[in-house]
Amino acid sequence: MSHESTYRPGSFVERWLDKRLPLVRLAHDSFVDFPTPKNLNYWWTFGGILSIFLVIQIITGVVLAMHYTPHVTMAFDSVEHIMRDVNYGWLMRYMHSNGASMFFIAVYVHMFRGLYYGSYKEPREMLWILGVVIFVLMMATAFMGYVLPWGQMSFWGATVITNLFSAVPVIGDSIVQLLWGGPSVDNPTLNRFYSLHYLLPFAIFGVVILHIWALHIPGNNNPTGVEVKTKKDTLPFHPYYTVKDGFAIVAFLVLFAAFVFFNPDALGHPDNYKEANPLSTPAHIVPEWYFLPFYAMLRAITFDFFFISSKLGGVIVMFSSIIVLFFLPWLDTSKVRSMRYRPVSQLWFLIFVVASVALGYLGGKPAEGTYVVLAQIATAYYFAFFLIILPLLGLLEKPKPLPKSISESVLKKPDLSSANAASE
Ligand code: HEM
Repeated sequence: MSHESTYRPGSFVERWLDKRLPLVRLAHDSFVDFPTPKNLNYWWTFGGILSIFLVIQIITGVVLAMHYTPHVTMAFDSVEHIMRDVNYGWLMRYMHSNGASMFFIAVYVHMFRGLYYGSYKEPREMLWILGVVIFVLMMATAFMGYVLPWGQMSFWGATVITNLFSAVPVIGDSIVQLLWGGPSVDNPTLNRFYSLHYLLPFAIFGVVILHIWALHIPGNNNPTGVEVKTKKDTLPFHPYYTVKDGFAIVAFLVLFAAFVFFNPDALGHPDNYKEANPLSTPAHIVPEWYFLPFYAMLRAITFDFFFISSKLGGVIVMFSSIIVLFFLPWLDTSKVRSMRYRPVSQLWFLIFVVASVALGYLGGKPAEGTYVVLAQIATAYYFAFFLIILPLLGLLEKPKPLPKSISESVLKKPDLSSANAASE
């Protein structure tokens, strides 16, 4: 939603700058006077929360990097040095490791919000696609970051996941060698992961700027999914949403602080406090919690499929679970955007949420017996939701009537005409 600039440079300096590099105008029009639908609920505060966490991760990460040593003989000890000797090193490390978890909690809420309210639908396809790109970059960054402390889980997690690429026909082994920088996970692997772990957050930062740009062209979606019609449907971003986002950010930071100060290792794995030992494999190799749904899908494929081995099948399914997200804007055929007006879809969406959480639970369990069967069912549902259910629902479901405008949905008054008639 392009809108006329309302910025009026006051002082001489502001006028001087505005003619040469109108940065203040850009900030004013994007974050002060930006016309924002007046009915956004708290699910719309997670983009702001994510932005704050990106900054927290970069600042704490840069400080950690000042004291960390990316070498297999020193990495583990350098992390212990950070924890014990560096002033507030423990705080930096716990903020960074728990910050990653908070980041993923927020991104999953943000994505499910987009899914429920149809925020990926025309004209916001680019916005959604850039979001999926950010998600992929976040996963790569988190995976490589977890390897850096060079604990048992770091080492064995890296070994298991990089080894997956060997299932790719013809070029698989070359890919794995390239990732490792040698014949096994070792010092060159640690070095390249460190280098990329430092680089990728800045790439994420760049894509986030594009993401917000792509948001500001069509403007926000909103809980009704009905587009803004007149100025009456909107409020200026400041102070209405700066205050609402600010409140949500503080509330989320309280949750973050509860982890950092009261239970900083709750989301981590105790085995990572043992230094990496290539000669001793841990009993259960599990990734961080935020990867568990994908890990469950990887291990759900226990059977060969024609010429595709179970290992390759698992890899294909795991990667496809992300790739399918890119096509979501074209898979959902419904004319109505928000599921608020799609009662049947709501039910299928609820099952989708349950299947996703179940996959997260199953990813942390041993890949055997009932756990595998359940993971197979949940994986099948995950794909069916995108490839069969959403396309069909759009064609078959009869949505509820939509409000004429955002204002109507917000201001809808109970019908008083009969009550008035009775009292007359
Ligand atoms: C570092 C990660 C991310 C940051 C900082 C970020 C930031 C934002 C911000 C500030 C907004 C506007 C406020 C809001 O709607 O909450 C937004 C909207 C949106 N984001 Fe993200 N985002 C991130 C990741 C993602 C991901 C992974 C996806 C999806 C795969 C995504 C999809 C969307 C969509 C569809 C909207 C439009 C929402 C609407 O107007 O209904 N974002 N994002």
